Amino acid sequence: RFTPTPDDKFTFGLWTVGWQGADPFGTATRPALDPVESVERLAALGAHGVTFHDDDLIPFGSSDAEREAAVKRFRDALDRTGMKVPMATTNLFTHPVFKDGAFTANDRDVRRYALRKTLRNIDLAVELGAGIYVAWGGREGAESGAAKDVRVALDRMKEAFDLLGQYVTEQGYDLRFAIEPKPNEPRGDILLPTIGHALAFIERLERPELVGVNPETGHEQMAGLNFPHGIAQALWAGKLFHIDLNGQSGIKYDQDFRFGAGDLRQAFWLVDLLESAGYEGPRHFDFKPVRTDGSDGVWESAKNCMRNYLVLKERAAAFRADPEVQEALAASRLPDLARPTAEDGLAALLADETAYETFDVTAAAARSMAFERLDQLALDHLLAVR
Ligand code: GCO
Ligand code: MN
Ligand code: MN
Ligand code: MN
Repeated sequence: RFTPTPDDKFTFGLWTVGWQGADPFGTATRPALDPVESVERLAALGAHGVTFHDDDLIPFGSSDAEREAAVKRFRDALDRTGMKVPMATTNLFTHPVFKDGAFTANDRDVRRYALRKTLRNIDLAVELGAGIYVAWGGREGAESGAAKDVRVALDRMKEAFDLLGQYVTEQGYDLRFAIEPKPNEPRGDILLPTIGHALAFIERLERPELVGVNPETGHEQMAGLNFPHGIAQALWAGKLFHIDLNGQSGIKYDQDFRFGAGDLRQAFWLVDLLESAGYEGPRHFDFKPVRTDGSDGVWESAKNCMRNYLVLKERAAAFRADPEVQEALAASRLPDLARPTAEDGLAALLADETAYETFDVTAAAARSMAFERLDQLALDHLLAVR
């Protein structure tokens, strides 16, 4: 029970289990992890695949021969274990050259280098079978007002995604992009800070159909936003191309806890949403095993990201299947929300005296929505006391 299989489509970034625990105040607390070991251990835990930044697999500055050897070892591990690579991404934030950003760095040479670094890794991503390419613009932002002309920076951001879209189209690649929003950290303020900003940006691109979002639990919550609501809007827009699952407790630094830690109620509603909406993409974990722990904690937390998802999936299904919940949903008028407001058309709405002239606003205002009972039923299911 609660033991995953590859059919559950759980995936992990190599940088998650591989995080050595260096933070702004302290150095690494764990040794480096070989990507091959990560693939093998995650496969043994029942994962479906792994994802990577170019530099996770091929250390920055490697020679062509070193690059080839690293890719070969990795590919052999994938073949041996049956692990997949559904997504890849570019590290455009670690090297000091990216201190002022990549696609929107003020320095044009840096922007051209960032695009070439990305295009190079896109070729590898496609070779390894990836269908999604994530773009997290961690350094695209500013700490002060005059330092970044945001409207012009957005022109450069659009230029970058238009070029990336042109490249995959010309190469005939079956690859789509997913923009990952984050409000701040490492920059004081980051461009495209939330799901909503990213969705609006995508519609201005030359090939909007090639670009969606990769929202991360903690990033929306760092902005005080409701993550399941953001995911619902991304699904509604047909733009949930990928997702980064983790845990976060409120508005503070990016905690990147394992999935299920942090805001448990939002995690419950998120799993309820993904499962009932029929989301078919990978359930990708982007978390950091706490730096207090040794490698025991790394594999324990990786295992429990998946376990917590499966537990919440069972709890959400029990909630939906409960006849009392069905009654409570009806009492709260959820079926009514699903009915169009004016399926009879505008003329009929205008002619309908019961809609306005004779409508009893006092009586309607007095109808209880009965949300308290509904929410307690959900909490009882989440706590497994029903
Ligand atoms: C974060 C970000 C990063 C990106 C990842 C992909 O936690 O700030 O999630 O982890 O997802 O680096 O580029
Ligand atoms: Mn994060
Ligand atoms: Mn992420
Ligand atoms: Mn992350």
